[in-house]
Amino acid sequence: MRSVDREDGPVKVTGAATYAADHHPDGLAYGYLLTSTVARGTILAMDTAQAEKAPGVIAIYTPFHPLELRPYAKEENGELTPPIQNTDVRYYGQAIGLVVAETFEQARDAAALVSTRCDAERPRASFTDGLPSAVGTSVVDVLADGVSSIDEALDAGDVTVTATYTTPAETHVAMEPHATVAFWTGDQVTVHTATQGVRLVVDRLSETLAMDPARFRVINPYVGGGFGNKWDMWPHTPLTVAAARALGRPVKTVLTREQVFTVVGHRPLTAQTVSLSAARDGTLVAVKNDGVSSKSASNGFHEQPANLSLALYGSANLHVSRKAVTLDVPATTIMRAPGESNGSFALESALDELAGELGMDPVDLRRKNDTPVHPATGLPWSSKHLAECYTVGAERFGWSRRSPRPGTVTDGDWLVGLGMATATYGAGRGQASINVRLRDDGRAVVSGTAADLGTGQSTVFAVLAADRLGIPVGRVVPELGDSATPPAANAGGSGSTSTNGPAVQLAADAAKEALVKLATEHEKSPFHGQEVTFSAGEVRSGGDGMPFGELLTSLGVAAVEATATSPRNPVRDHAFRSFGAHFCEVRVNRWTGEPRVTRWSCVVDAGTIVNATTARSQIVGGVVMGIGQALLEDLRIEPETGRFGNATMADYLVPINADIPPIDVEFLNYPDTLLSDLGARGIGELGNVGAAAAVANAVHNATGKRIRDLPITLDKLL
Ligand code: MOS
Repeated sequence: MRSVDREDGPVKVTGAATYAADHHPDGLAYGYLLTSTVARGTILAMDTAQAEKAPGVIAIYTPFHPLELRPYAKEENGELTPPIQNTDVRYYGQAIGLVVAETFEQARDAAALVSTRCDAERPRASFTDGLPSAVGTSVVDVLADGVSSIDEALDAGDVTVTATYTTPAETHVAMEPHATVAFWTGDQVTVHTATQGVRLVVDRLSETLAMDPARFRVINPYVGGGFGNKWDMWPHTPLTVAAARALGRPVKTVLTREQVFTVVGHRPLTAQTVSLSAARDGTLVAVKNDGVSSKSASNGFHEQPANLSLALYGSANLHVSRKAVTLDVPATTIMRAPGESNGSFALESALDELAGELGMDPVDLRRKNDTPVHPATGLPWSSKHLAECYTVGAERFGWSRRSPRPGTVTDGDWLVGLGMATATYGAGRGQASINVRLRDDGRAVVSGTAADLGTGQSTVFAVLAADRLGIPVGRVVPELGDSATPPAANAGGSGSTSTNGPAVQLAADAAKEALVKLATEHEKSPFHGQEVTFSAGEVRSGGDGMPFGELLTSLGVAAVEATATSPRNPVRDHAFRSFGAHFCEVRVNRWTGEPRVTRWSCVVDAGTIVNATTARSQIVGGVVMGIGQALLEDLRIEPETGRFGNATMADYLVPINADIPPIDVEFLNYPDTLLSDLGARGIGELGNVGAAAAVANAVHNATGKRIRDLPITLDKLL
């Protein structure tokens, strides 16, 4: 395993990296969104007269003076309809207009002068109230021969646990607020916008502006975090691009932090009722999970948290159902490990409860139900070393010191508990194309439309190309985030390295071939007509070698390049998933109930690890987010108004450094050769899955209190 510093580290820490909002084309005007202050209803009128007279105001667009946008052609995770095309209000904080002015401050001040009159209705804002009327989407039953229902299967076990687990709405709070800068040159438009994939933006813009995709150039090499909230395109982007066209000058719109909470989607609330039934020796005989997710009236996305119960532990009988409750709240969307983050809180807590009922160690119970095949489809796993994750993790963490009796270990004023959970996330390999250009300065440029959200993807490009070309990592120049480069994977679903990595390798090989061809065929080449090979960055013939940069310079050729495409994984007779194990120690203050996470070990089975340095950061980041989910994060919806009650970074709590213990990460590093020659699966979401449950299980071990409703705040422990 290589351990390489981030290639983009220096430009990021010195401020030289240009994020979307850092672009200031000549003649720039500034957009500021108008947002709704009711959660459901109809806009009757918007009085913009005063605002139009305010200093610097250029234009004000509203549903009564709209920018023309076409309906989106296909459903994604963002909103179903483009902004300000009608007077419907579907949530509090919805974009209902755009003020454009000479400066940001002028646009913001003018926005405050617009008065809006609404016919407001009471919003549907309580998930709990909506649960009894949740709408069913689908049911999956996998039953053993002769078993007629999951409940019959549950009855046949020796020990059964049933409980309901709930998770609140959460939001991504990526460091970089969403921003879009657009400028037109003739009928071409250049867009800088914070996104997890420039091609996603091209696709969406071409739908809503009814223009050929070739007329858009979206450039966004740096992203200040995404976690899912920069996957889809949000309303400020089409408004900004359309305003720039209407006004004939560049426009920039940056969301305020508070606007990010509502204009951009959030993770839905969930409730899961889980029943597990096992034989006396711990063998699961039935797993049942009825999962419900909230969803916004403004879009279709909802989670299916119960699905994970079909994919992790072996059981002859499985049942999953999915339902949704529609609320008048901002769009619901993907957030790190969609479905499985919440799904694992319920499943992994329930496993811990079952272990308690059986009087079994929670690791032994999981080992007992580890399975070489996918529990629902029966397909063998491509590569699974989960048992080793348990063994190595238990050893590194000191799991044997755990007391099986909750509430019995103390250290002064603190109750001490140990907990664990399985980590997992689905894996796959899509199609990707990459270009590698060998330049006369001895550098190799690797380009494709991929995105680096802070994940280390650009460094992965550098490491893989450097190894393939036999040159130092520092001589590779990764170019990500430009829609004019070959179509590579967008950043999402833990699929960047597994999809783009093989394409980088193929493209480097193709570039080597192109160089060898040039060396043999170019008339002025010292290797003309000879048998030529390429190794360690040099063209060779017999004993003579020449670095590729020197050869190109001597021939007066600036660069040779090649583009290669790695196809979607063709293997259909195996199932693919990353695995891991979390172990943690939690201390709960005996008097105040304050929970603190004090130790963590995570062992990861995610195939080949391309760069241990950035991979470790991905796992640590996932665990940090899991600790936040366990103890802090809770986006509160006011039941009367449908407004988020804590839509600020002061009120929406996420962990700070002092909340996070040292996190030990170990990679098993077994290549998944059925997925690709590279053998890398995914790690972006894995570290988050199971982390909150590991905390909840440790809290139970410390206190004897089983908290099934996240977050685990101190009031629940008193
Ligand atoms: Mo991630 S939630 O797949 O962007």
